[in-house]
Amino acid sequence: MPRIVAVPGTHDLLPPRSDAWERLHRIHREVAVRHGYRLADTPIFEFTDLFERGVGTGTDVVEKEMYTFVDPGGRSLTLRPEGTAGMVRACLSAGLLQQWRPLRLHYAGPMFRRERPQRGRYRQFHQVGIECIGERSPQLDVEVVEVGWRFLQALGLDGVSVQLNSLGDVADRSRYRAALVAYYDPHRPQLCPDCRRRLEVNPLRLLDCKRDATLAEAAPVVHEVLSQESASYFDEVLRGLRAADVPVAVNPRLVRGLDYYAHTAFEFWHRSMQGAQNALGGGGRYDGLAELLGYPPTPGVGYAFGVERLLLVLEDTGVVLAEAGDPTVVVCSVSDSAEQAETAAAVARRLRRAGTTAVLDVSARRLARKLELADRLAARLCLIVGDDEVRTRTVQLKRPGEPSRRLQLDTVEDEVIRAIGTTSKNR
Ligand code: HAM
Repeated sequence: MPRIVAVPGTHDLLPPRSDAWERLHRIHREVAVRHGYRLADTPIFEFTDLFERGVGTGTDVVEKEMYTFVDPGGRSLTLRPEGTAGMVRACLSAGLLQQWRPLRLHYAGPMFRRERPQRGRYRQFHQVGIECIGERSPQLDVEVVEVGWRFLQALGLDGVSVQLNSLGDVADRSRYRAALVAYYDPHRPQLCPDCRRRLEVNPLRLLDCKRDATLAEAAPVVHEVLSQESASYFDEVLRGLRAADVPVAVNPRLVRGLDYYAHTAFEFWHRSMQGAQNALGGGGRYDGLAELLGYPPTPGVGYAFGVERLLLVLEDTGVVLAEAGDPTVVVCSVSDSAEQAETAAAVARRLRRAGTTAVLDVSARRLARKLELADRLAARLCLIVGDDEVRTRTVQLKRPGEPSRRLQLDTVEDEVIRAIGTTSKNR
């Protein structure tokens, strides 16, 4: 029978990579919590309308990349391609803004986009992100970008640039759209088929077409059409980021792939990756999103990072992000006798109660092999239980490269803690 394999564009999370994965999530949570962000989570599938209206029908994500299906009840559902629309829906439908404003939330979880799979681009991928919902202030834009920057610093990642732009408000954007159409229209015959269509539906998207990149270079920039108010909002964000010591590069061609942005838009790029197609993370202000979803106008700003992309860049640049891990003790029996197994299990239980990570090996394998496997688990020491030990209520303590010594079973946890010098963080 043919072997069943993973669906292309998906991947499994397994040790040892899962150690770095856990550490990355822990660091993100710590940095976000330190800035007042609290955990939120939303369903993985939503009504399709949420994304059609929120993300925008003219975007690649909605046009080509959504996993949409009709459930037996006849409703069109979609696996979430991103987290922001769901977060805004969740907070507004729960009426949370009456209690907290702004609402500061952090999240982590899988997203789904039917893109062409390649390195750093998957069909199921994971994001960590934050959203700050309910207030409009350049200081909050600064805060969100700064949290992202502090997160990257905490990961120990170098070579990142923050690309920052303003997309202006609705009026600015319609002026900008008109300017882009006027610029691109004479070049229509040279445009790729996708861009010819985009010119009708969503001219901003022409700016990040790879095929028409040279044309994009000479296209009008949004700053030429920003109102006085939008320009000074952007200046304030820039000043705030400078004061926070977050280095930014103003990039007038940054447009983002989702339609809900207004004013501030930003991406985190790494020097080893090719710009916008491979951003480590991105975000911006989305003051019009709530209304598109049928709720009262509610401002918001946030970001999301791609977890797999971050891990790739960390691996490529040699940053080791292993979870520090608790010291592990392996408790093994000499044979697979039931008495030895019971005593070894009792020893392991005592250690765990005292806060030590204890792994049991009461298999029929030879003792030498058990010690080898313990070594592979990076065990700090092994405790061995044979028939003698069962009879005398003792265990043998064995450390790599040292002679073994005998411990009393009733005080084994104190001796072990003394020997390894610490206990679990998760006690
Ligand atoms: P986004 O730029 O579409 O923004 O995605 C954020 C990050 O998710 C990207 O920078 C990238 O690292 C990762 N990502 C996106 N697509 C893929 C993929 N196919 N494979 C691997 N990684 C991917 C958003 O999703 C917005 N919701 C961010 C946001 C939050 N804006 C405001 N608040």
